[in-house]
Amino acid sequence: MEDNINILNEYMSNIKVESNNLYNLHFNVVGMSFMGLHKKIQEYYENFNLFYDSIAERIKMLNGYPITSLVKIEETSTIKSMKSMDFNANQVLNILDNDFSFLTEYTKDLIKVFNDKIDYYTSNILNNILMYIEKELWMIKSSLK
Ligand SMILES: [Fe+2]
Repeated sequence: MEDNINILNEYMSNIKVESNNLYNLHFNVVGMSFMGLHKKIQEYYENFNLFYDSIAERIKMLNGYPITSLVKIEETSTIKSMKSMDFNANQVLNILDNDFSFLTEYTKDLIKVFNDKIDYYTSNILNNILMYIEKELWMIKSSLK
């Protein structure tokens, strides 16, 4: 069980840092696509904040403690916080492509891990996250063509 909690804390940390990075892109996107991307990225971080909450609450259900220290979250996460600076549309879309591709593969791997452990509650949470991220990834990739 300890192992499950560590796996979920690491995943949750990535979702939390990604949410923080999405705020950065939301605030700092510049150029002709500002209106569309600013709005779209707000939808992303609102969803990521819900994902963060559902993973943290699942950790509680498994009798663990979700990491809440921002320093520890940053340390635990594979995705790292980004500097606050201007990002044009192409940079924003490439960052999103990179992060959402990583999260798609990461989420798929964990679904397999939790299915093998017969923890379908957790794999269902992850499935819902995957369905959102993978669909948005298609839209991001289409925008980059
Ligand atoms: Fe906003």
